[in-house]
Amino acid sequence: MTAYLLGIDIGTSGTKTVLFDKEGHTIASALEEYPLSQPYLGWAEQEPEDWWNAVHRTISQVIKKANIDPEDIKGIGLSGQMHGLVMLDENNDVIRPSIIWCDQRTEKQCDYMTEIVGREKLIDITGNPAITGFTASKILWVMQNEPENYKKTKHILLPKDYIRFKLTGEFATEVSDASGMQLIDIEKRNWSHELLRLLNIDQSLLAKVYESYEVTGHVTEFVSQLTGLAVGTAVVGGAGDQAAGAIGNGIIKEGIISSTIGSSGVVFAHTDRVVKDIEGRIQTFCHAVPGTWHVMGVTQGAGLSLKWFRDNFCDEEMSIADKMGIDPYELMGGEAEKSPVGSKGLVYLPYLMGERTPHLDPHAKGVFFGLTPSHRKNEMIRAIMEGVTYSLRDCLELIKDLGIPIENIRVSGGGNKSPLWRQMQADIFNNSVRTINSSEGPAFGVAILAGVGVGLYDSIEEACGEMIREKDITETLVDHVDKYDTIYEFYKKLYPMLKEGYKLHGEICE
Ligand code: XUL
Repeated sequence: MTAYLLGIDIGTSGTKTVLFDKEGHTIASALEEYPLSQPYLGWAEQEPEDWWNAVHRTISQVIKKANIDPEDIKGIGLSGQMHGLVMLDENNDVIRPSIIWCDQRTEKQCDYMTEIVGREKLIDITGNPAITGFTASKILWVMQNEPENYKKTKHILLPKDYIRFKLTGEFATEVSDASGMQLIDIEKRNWSHELLRLLNIDQSLLAKVYESYEVTGHVTEFVSQLTGLAVGTAVVGGAGDQAAGAIGNGIIKEGIISSTIGSSGVVFAHTDRVVKDIEGRIQTFCHAVPGTWHVMGVTQGAGLSLKWFRDNFCDEEMSIADKMGIDPYELMGGEAEKSPVGSKGLVYLPYLMGERTPHLDPHAKGVFFGLTPSHRKNEMIRAIMEGVTYSLRDCLELIKDLGIPIENIRVSGGGNKSPLWRQMQADIFNNSVRTINSSEGPAFGVAILAGVGVGLYDSIEEACGEMIREKDITETLVDHVDKYDTIYEFYKKLYPMLKEGYKLHGEICE
């Protein structure tokens, strides 16, 4: 039987739609970018309509490129940036731009949640302390600052679940992404009535919660005409981008860890039980595999840091890359390689959008520390890549502290296309890192879930076994390990020294 699976990843910089065959080969893909708006310091918003346009256009492109019978697409999986708040009115129209994951405006609402619910209870129910990036505090922000918008709200959805609504007309979510709303009881894998009552959020505003592989709806007639998809194609729950990427990397048993560098950077581990960090430094969510959970550490500004540098300081590289038909990051990587390990003493803190792990601090800001006239662009690019990797090591150390075994580290995400960044991770983690056959991460992961949901595979384990193979291994370079260890110890001291300064700075910038 000819069978294809479609994975759609609604990311922060763009949407990627990828068609896979049953063995996991990429048949066709399309990407469309959209803007991020930052009207005030620490704010980050996007237009849900931009996501939808990117989704239906990339689906059409993929179907055309692949030149297949759309009836052979057996299932669709949705992945997306997590935590974003989409509010719809009684006509199902979007009420305001989506407040997305890296927005930091909700510190007061987090304090309020902590006061009303209690920090311990929040960690006990949701696996996490109140976090500015998560959806619950964003809902409270709208309730408190835009009551007229809140009053109009009839549906609250996450980014990928808004797209599900556009594709199928259904209001549904699934456990992994819903965990990041901070309204789920993660042990019960459903909405927490207690939290909703304490925070005064009406459950009827929220979507039905499914397991990630379950079928949640079917493509409508209208969408079929718009995109070329067959009417009735099944759309499964899918997963938040991190859990989706983890499935796409085969992170479905203890011991295999992933390190992903997308806009954010994430170190992710599967767990068979609910592991909670009582200090709230690392995040715990439901995994997209039924009956399992995951912990992850998040660097807010990972690829985002390099993109910021590219967009503001690398016009020349962008124009040369454009002429050569290559990715400007390739040229930037080449420049970073001209700088020695440690970037001649230049240390970068990647806190452009505040930070989550291990310093839960919306006031934290990016820093180049130790700048001297000997530093050139090469050192700045390398320092950014190294700083992001030190931050990922912070996440890895916390996972080790929780007693979770680390036997195999798989790297993925746009940043890991760079051999230099992979080598840095091997050296800074002091652990070899591996890539797998597909670099499509989240889109691949949700295509796998779709394959299970529509019955092409009996289980996620079976699907991963058939579709995922390890490809390359990057071994550690022993003399780099010692150098990086010394710098990492220094890096760890910088945040505590700057913490008070960040707070004061937040006050003068208000
Ligand atoms: C995960 C997180 C980010 C976003 C954007 O908690 O905030 O990974 O999902 O990628």
